[in-house]
Amino acid sequence: MYQEINLDKIDINAEPPIEEPDRQYYYMAKCRKWVRKFERKNGRLPTAFIQTFGCQMNARDSEKLMGILENIGFEQSDSEEADFVLYNTCTVRENANNKVWGRLGYLNVYKKRHPHMKIALCGCMMQEPEVLEKLQKSYPFVNLVFGTHNIYKFAELLEISLTQQRMVIDIWKDTDKIVEDLPVERKYNFKSGVNIMFGCNNFCSYCIVPYVRGRERSRKPEDILLEIERLAADGVVEVMLLGQNVNSYGKTLNEPITFAELLKRIEKIEGIKRIRFMTSHPKDLSEELIEVMRNSKKICRHLHLPLQSGSSRILKEMNRQYDKEQYLSLVKKIREAVPGIALTTDIIVGFPGETEEDFLETMDVVKQVEYESAFTFIYSKRTGTPAAAKENQVPENAVKDRFQRLLKEVQRIAAQKADAYTGKTEPVLVEEVNEQDETLVTGRLSSNFIVHLPGTDEMIGKLVNVKLKECRGFYFYGEAEE
Ligand code: SAH
Ligand code: SF4
Ligand code: F3S
Repeated sequence: MYQEINLDKIDINAEPPIEEPDRQYYYMAKCRKWVRKFERKNGRLPTAFIQTFGCQMNARDSEKLMGILENIGFEQSDSEEADFVLYNTCTVRENANNKVWGRLGYLNVYKKRHPHMKIALCGCMMQEPEVLEKLQKSYPFVNLVFGTHNIYKFAELLEISLTQQRMVIDIWKDTDKIVEDLPVERKYNFKSGVNIMFGCNNFCSYCIVPYVRGRERSRKPEDILLEIERLAADGVVEVMLLGQNVNSYGKTLNEPITFAELLKRIEKIEGIKRIRFMTSHPKDLSEELIEVMRNSKKICRHLHLPLQSGSSRILKEMNRQYDKEQYLSLVKKIREAVPGIALTTDIIVGFPGETEEDFLETMDVVKQVEYESAFTFIYSKRTGTPAAAKENQVPENAVKDRFQRLLKEVQRIAAQKADAYTGKTEPVLVEEVNEQDETLVTGRLSSNFIVHLPGTDEMIGKLVNVKLKECRGFYFYGEAEE
């Protein structure tokens, strides 16, 4: 884990070190020299802005990138009107890409008025060859492009792009490397994401993630535990363990360890009060994990268990490796073992070849499981995935109709599930002062529902017992109890 390193003590006239992370510290020191020059010229420090698209893994990566920028001497800006703007992109669905292209257009206009500004792009979308081609052809104002595998090299790439005019591009196809000990700038003081693994080996037939994030790699348990111990010492009370399929954590390590075992070790760390994780793939969810969840005092009563489809035929086509019955029996086991657990899910509507009957199977699972919340997505064709080559794409109007019906059902059930909490007193971890009303603070239940209550910023990061007085669909109004 990151230790304060005095960049000014690094000899930047020497040859760059070969070993990581020393090499990156050397380049951070070099970038700092550039920052000093900027400061002398402009009478202020340069500003940096990062916009994150996509999932929690990208959010965590952005914290690492901001950590590096702040170490170098950049000041964090809260808008794109900054000296250095970085978009950390997502490509899981087409609309994720469209957002980036749109924002880049605006950024170009701004850069015309501020030509010294540097624009950088990284993340999953950059791993797609077509995206790179389009950038080189039509977006020459972009200064730096890098991918998901070499993100740890950010300082080195930044140094090159700060001192050159041409577009700097560095994209790797894959890596087996995990670089520890780089600086991180956390968004919240009291909670933090923690990567436990990178990449994905599942190749669900619709999904682009394995192609842009590479093969599955687990971090060593001792590195993870050390990171969490340091976070706890720094005031963090809640950790969210991150991976595309946390249930297969540790299988490829030289000394294999299960995810359940990792959880047991994290549970012992003093100061950590809540443990969350995502995402769980149903095919790898073990009895051992259910047992650990059942006995745990710290693991939240919430499990995100993506269904994707309720039709066994479609699940097979999706290469999900479970069927409707297996999924339902898993849910039954979990609900029995961990009473009061909230279940949430992801569902795709309109996978190629999905019929009305298939869709009704999905509706049936939704009704049987009664999810506390569900993310519903319209199938998006991703170039290079097996599903994109299928000819029987579902007509748009049928997809839209199914999507609306599903959404309505999901919302109806979620509201009903939430309402069952009304009147109860539950622990809430207070996260922030409410943006709309400063007399309120906002926090979360163990089951992940959001609660607003009267309070002050002194409560942030604390667990308080809250009487849930009123349910407003997906969130609550409550009052702290003495
Ligand atoms: N690793 C996680 C999911 C990561 S992507 C898992 O296996 O559950 C998050 C969600 O995006 C997926 O669960 C899926 O529902 C959705 N998704 C992925 N690819 C998609 C596509 N091509 N079209 C629509 N939704 C997609
Ligand atoms: Fe995509 Fe499937 Fe991997 Fe999740 S498990 S990231 S849906 S390939
Ligand atoms: Fe998107 Fe990459 Fe996450 S494609 S969902 S940011 S892993």
